[in-house]
Amino acid sequence: MKQTLTLALSKGRILKDTLPLLAAADIHPLEDISSSRKLIFDTNHDHIKLIVIRATDVPTYVEYGAADMGIAGKDVLMEHGAQEMYEPVDLEIARCRLMTAGIVGAPAVKGRRLKVATKFVNITKAYYAEQGIQADVIKLYGAMELAPLMGLADKIVDIVDTGNTLRANGLQPEDMIADISSRLVVGKASMKMKYRMIEPILEKLNAAVAARRGEAA
Ligand code: ATP
Ligand code: PRP
Repeated sequence: MKQTLTLALSKGRILKDTLPLLAAADIHPLEDISSSRKLIFDTNHDHIKLIVIRATDVPTYVEYGAADMGIAGKDVLMEHGAQEMYEPVDLEIARCRLMTAGIVGAPAVKGRRLKVATKFVNITKAYYAEQGIQADVIKLYGAMELAPLMGLADKIVDIVDTGNTLRANGLQPEDMIADISSRLVVGKASMKMKYRMIEPILEKLNAAVAARRGEAA
């Protein structure tokens, strides 16, 4: 039976930067992903299929081998704890920072545990533990910036790009946790079993990233 290769793409913000990189690597979906309701797409290569899923689900598909490769933000990969996969290419797209933030001018918290709201619960717990700071981490699914304003939390841990969202809500970026960009991940089992199919794609994607960097310089 002919082997196929499945690449899991994150829908949303990363997708529009991903498609030109795939095109440069000669992977072209046979229909317009952005305007379709389909979830599985054929490509110009008989053996390569694309699936389009939520960013946070990409490491799960790759971990279980339901997709051979995937594209996801480093934040999502760090939060998931991506052990069953390699991360061979930094695609250098969707660049941003993962930071702590708090209300401008708020006094330091003393005499009680710090309350931190975030959707990155694992990263946040690990970060404060590393700092030796006792923190209660409160899971939210969005609009983290609201939490300090409503007294739900003292700090947030969130993505910062321009800083506009923080500024618009009277918050300031504080400590840097990690530089973020999107990565190509490959399942360890797929890398072993399908290396001959995967290797040329890695090569072409690396070249596409380098060319893009050259253009930006
Ligand atoms: P989900 O749909 O699973 O809830 P999400 O809404 O966080 O995920 P997007 O907003 O599409 O998904 O973000 C995808 C990735 O883009 C993030 O994981 C992060 O790596 C990066 N990202 C998020 N916000 C920004 C931003 N403002 N600027 C640049 N990159 C960002
Ligand atoms: C992301 C992130 C911040 C914002 C940061 O939100 O969660 O709120 O971008 O970008 P900035 O520093 O340039 O303002 P997004 O726009 O993706 O909304 P969402 O998290 O609700 O999907």
